[in-house]
Amino acid sequence: MKTTSLVAALLLSAAGTDAAIPAGVAKVAAREDGLAFSPPHYPSPWMNPEAPGWEDAYAKAKEFVSQLTLPEKVNLTTGVGWMSERCVGNAGSIPRLGMRGLCMQDGPLGLRLSDYNSAFPGGITAGASWSRKLWRQRGLLMGTEANEKGIDVLLGPASGPLGRAPTGGRNWEGFSVDPYMSGIALAETSVGIQEGGVVATAKHYVGNEQEHFRQSPEARGYGYNITDSISSNIDDKTLHELYVWPFADAVKAGVGAIMCSYQQVNNSYGCQNSKLINGILKEELGFQGFVMSDWQAQHAGAATAAAGLDMSMPGDTSFNSGLSFWGANLTLAVVNGTVPEWRVDDMAMRIMAAFFKVGRTVDSMPDINFSSWSRDTFGYVQMAAKENWEQINFGVDVVGDHGLHIREAAAKGSVLLKNSGSLPLKKPKFVAVIGEDAGGNPAGPNSCNDRGCDNGTLAIGWGSGTSQFPYLITPDQALQFQAHADGSRYESILNNNQWQATLQVISQPNVTAIVFANANAGEGYINVDGNEGDRKNLTLWKEGDDLIKNISSVCPNTIVVLHTVGPVILTEWYDNPNITAIVWAGLPGQESGNAIADILYGKTSPGRSPFTWGRTRESYGTDLLYEPNNGQGAPQQDFAEGVFIDYRHFDRKSPSTTGKAANDSNAPIYEFGFGLSWSTFEYTNLEIQTHTDTPYEPTSGETIAAPELGNFSTDLSEYTFPSNIRYIYQFIYPWLNTSSSGREASADPEYGQTAEQFLPPNANDGSPQPKSPASGAPGGNPQLWDVLYTVSATITNTGDATSDEIPQLYVSLGGDEPVRVLRGFERLESIAPGQSFIFTADITRRDLSNWDVASQNWVITKHEKKVYVGSSSRNLPLSAVLEI
Ligand SMILES: *[C@@H]1O[C@H](CO)[C@@H](O)[C@H](O)[C@H]1NC(C)=O
Ligand SMILES: *[C@@H]1O[C@H](CO)[C@@H](O)[C@H](O)[C@H]1NC(C)=O
Ligand SMILES: *[C@@H]1O[C@H](CO)[C@@H](O)[C@H](O)[C@H]1NC(C)=O
Ligand SMILES: *[C@@H]1O[C@H](CO)[C@@H](O)[C@H](O)[C@H]1NC(C)=O
Ligand SMILES: *[C@@H]1O[C@H](CO)[C@@H](O)[C@H](O)[C@H]1NC(C)=O
Ligand SMILES: *[C@@H]1O[C@H](CO)[C@@H](O)[C@H](O)[C@H]1NC(C)=O
Ligand SMILES: *[C@@H]1O[C@H](CO)[C@@H](O)[C@H](O)[C@H]1NC(C)=O
Ligand SMILES: *[C@@H]1O[C@H](CO)[C@@H](O)[C@H](O)[C@H]1NC(C)=O
Ligand SMILES: *[C@@H]1O[C@H](CO)[C@@H](O)[C@H](O)[C@H]1NC(C)=O
Ligand SMILES: *[C@@H]1O[C@H](CO)[C@@H](O)[C@H](O)[C@H]1NC(C)=O
Repeated sequence: MKTTSLVAALLLSAAGTDAAIPAGVAKVAAREDGLAFSPPHYPSPWMNPEAPGWEDAYAKAKEFVSQLTLPEKVNLTTGVGWMSERCVGNAGSIPRLGMRGLCMQDGPLGLRLSDYNSAFPGGITAGASWSRKLWRQRGLLMGTEANEKGIDVLLGPASGPLGRAPTGGRNWEGFSVDPYMSGIALAETSVGIQEGGVVATAKHYVGNEQEHFRQSPEARGYGYNITDSISSNIDDKTLHELYVWPFADAVKAGVGAIMCSYQQVNNSYGCQNSKLINGILKEELGFQGFVMSDWQAQHAGAATAAAGLDMSMPGDTSFNSGLSFWGANLTLAVVNGTVPEWRVDDMAMRIMAAFFKVGRTVDSMPDINFSSWSRDTFGYVQMAAKENWEQINFGVDVVGDHGLHIREAAAKGSVLLKNSGSLPLKKPKFVAVIGEDAGGNPAGPNSCNDRGCDNGTLAIGWGSGTSQFPYLITPDQALQFQAHADGSRYESILNNNQWQATLQVISQPNVTAIVFANANAGEGYINVDGNEGDRKNLTLWKEGDDLIKNISSVCPNTIVVLHTVGPVILTEWYDNPNITAIVWAGLPGQESGNAIADILYGKTSPGRSPFTWGRTRESYGTDLLYEPNNGQGAPQQDFAEGVFIDYRHFDRKSPSTTGKAANDSNAPIYEFGFGLSWSTFEYTNLEIQTHTDTPYEPTSGETIAAPELGNFSTDLSEYTFPSNIRYIYQFIYPWLNTSSSGREASADPEYGQTAEQFLPPNANDGSPQPKSPASGAPGGNPQLWDVLYTVSATITNTGDATSDEIPQLYVSLGGDEPVRVLRGFERLESIAPGQSFIFTADITRRDLSNWDVASQNWVITKHEKKVYVGSSSRNLPLSAVLEI
């Protein structure tokens, strides 16, 4: 990269903004170019052998890692290259101790690039169930499927993107735009996956809120001439209270891996931002597992090691380059003194501790019995190199009875937005199902790579976070089946553009017209209809709005079903009285049809919206950057709205909760947390129990010194490629291809710089380090989880149907904070008419705190704290002030 001034050159060098403070410069407070800047945090925190929940795993890891040579340790940290082995990511192996390379596989809703596996509901639909039980179960079943295929590390769940803007392409992979809810879902899913015996990966850490410009080569492919990825410029308070918050829950719950993200934060890449990885994740949150790069998100060698990266995926500098920032380079960097051995020991420890923590053992690693790169029975094990032709797919069927969970979770994650009495359906006389979204993809459910198209019913979005469907039950199939059982007449028109035929059907008397429409999105490497990952608009696809408007102008009983990745603008038609019901069916996965039939016929209770439905795109107050705004440099996206995303923004603009003032364009149509049930519920008897509590103590003291496990030789000839091993084309190895000189072996054009010259001060300091006030245990200072209050309320079914209800608790933190933030919820199942349930929620210190930038700690401010309990973020019949 060509830069003019020395400071800029150092700041922007491959070592990364934060990793490149020149020696002797103690403090760099700002960048010369005035762009957002990420403060350095070094050295990289090492594991804590006594961290709660990790003691056993640490002991086992120590026993194992102590036996390893330097190249063996390096092998654990570095992938063997893109498509070089069966999985989407494969670490090197340790043949001497009988350990095959770790297998990393997508993704957050089940297995990608596999077969005979399930396609679970997308994260956003799982989220909409608001059910901790279903989140845990979904994780467990996904973990079980991964385990049975021989996978060691599943690349999910996701809470980044969180959903800063509704058009974000991958928002649907996560659970909710609310950090509190996302955190619980991220933690429950991670625990479930790990109960299934594989390491969970919480991702993408952090600030990866849009697809446009997340990777500069991808952006150049779309014709945007930029040299660096977008920078999400996020202030410290917003980072803590919104974007990092869910990760803290996952860390507290013991997640084994965290994936760092493609884009930059404050102009420092996600996988080499020492403030994010060293400072917040490993020091403050006390994360004991390993940080893995997103695929090709690593942009430097020693600097990424110093900034806290533990595993390079897929290992090569760019796909199939045959070169690596780590591998031989990391071996050399230790031998020549640039990276201290304790750092590589720590990487290996973290990887192996996560492995042992989930119950895996080196002696009994299962066979990987599928290949990501082919569905043929026989093929190359090393697909990129075309080596070792053998049986690569064994068709191991791992779906079990997981369809039952998928059906339940998809139905319970559907949201009943409107119902003027037409639902639940009871043996209707004539059911007419209209719309392409009710039918199948004419080319089959898996015809488009990584689901990168929008043909037929939408059951999951597109990108690496998808699965192959083992089958896909369409709405048309399930609704016809139900109609047939009921003796209803049934017709379907699975096309949005057959108006004459549609009119004939839906203008007949006594018809129940069910109109299906969708809106899709996905990951940035696939462009569907001009949507480069992110959505280009918030309207329905394929003239869905016109279809709904046309039908409802004729048919007085029009029921709308939406399969969408997030909110769409309903403004023009939602209040048409002929539209008697609106169901958001999200991304239901393989049991789509059965799930929607269960909801339309009232066999299952629906969920609540995990995001706001605004009147206009502008009403969200945030949007993505669609055009570069910094010349050829990294596009700059300032998160200027701070914590005011989604309902926090809507509440600020339109605080009145009395009714949905139709003339208030700032008010949402359907608010966060909203959704109808099959009955009516009364909320009474708010009670608050105060717990005695010891005052919050900032953590202090020092860590132990960096543990070192074993020695290494500085003789380069000990690290050359062994003569008895056959080199596989493009494979990444830990060995040097020459011992004549480090420069030659590294092939790094800038070889020879010492740590003092290009790493920041303290990067290699292995001495005991001070602990920060907000740190102390996985998740942060343990006192943050002290329960200060327990709130309870009585929820009574006052209607005449049994239904689930999802009470929610919000807290107002006062001052300039959001009007309210979610701090409790529970899905109460099957409440019979007349029956009461007591909803209780614990309020922790963390729940009442704000991040204080000055003290770098959580504080409960002096402002009045008020709690609210109700059925959505704007329907809150009960409230009380908390006596502090
Ligand atoms: C980014 O910059 C803001 C503003 O200076 C600062 O508050 C925040 O801590 C920085 N975050 C990171 C990760 O560098
Ligand atoms: C590193 O992993 C590769 C690929 O699995 C393997 O061929 C090699 O033997 C391993 N090296 C060491 C030192 O174990
Ligand atoms: C990108 O910009 C650079 C510098 O202006 C120019 O040399 C290069 O040709 C441009 N590339 C494309 C594809 O436009
Ligand atoms: C070592 O890393 C540098 C970049 O830092 C890269 O240019 C070089 O090709 C790498 N060497 C090997 C052997 O992979
Ligand atoms: C596939 O992997 C599972 C889990 O290790 C194992 O039980 C099974 O025997 C393997 N099947 C084949 C055909 O390799
Ligand atoms: C399926 O989707 C692709 C890409 O979006 C489109 O080009 C194609 O026409 C569609 N096929 C059908 C049969 O709808
Ligand atoms: C429509 O339904 C009503 C009520 O069931 C019935 O009285 C009427 O005859 C039906 N009309 C037709 C044309 O079927
Ligand atoms: C929004 O995008 C979708 C998908 O590309 C497209 O079908 C639709 O026509 C667009 N809406 C508008 C109003 O342009
Ligand atoms: C509702 O449907 C009736 C026909 O049943 C039609 O006359 C009327 O205009 C429709 N209303 C609206 C608001 O579209
Ligand atoms: C040590 O090796 C690393 C990795 O190849 C290289 O980046 C660095 O410049 C080398 N340092 C010295 C002092 O040779």
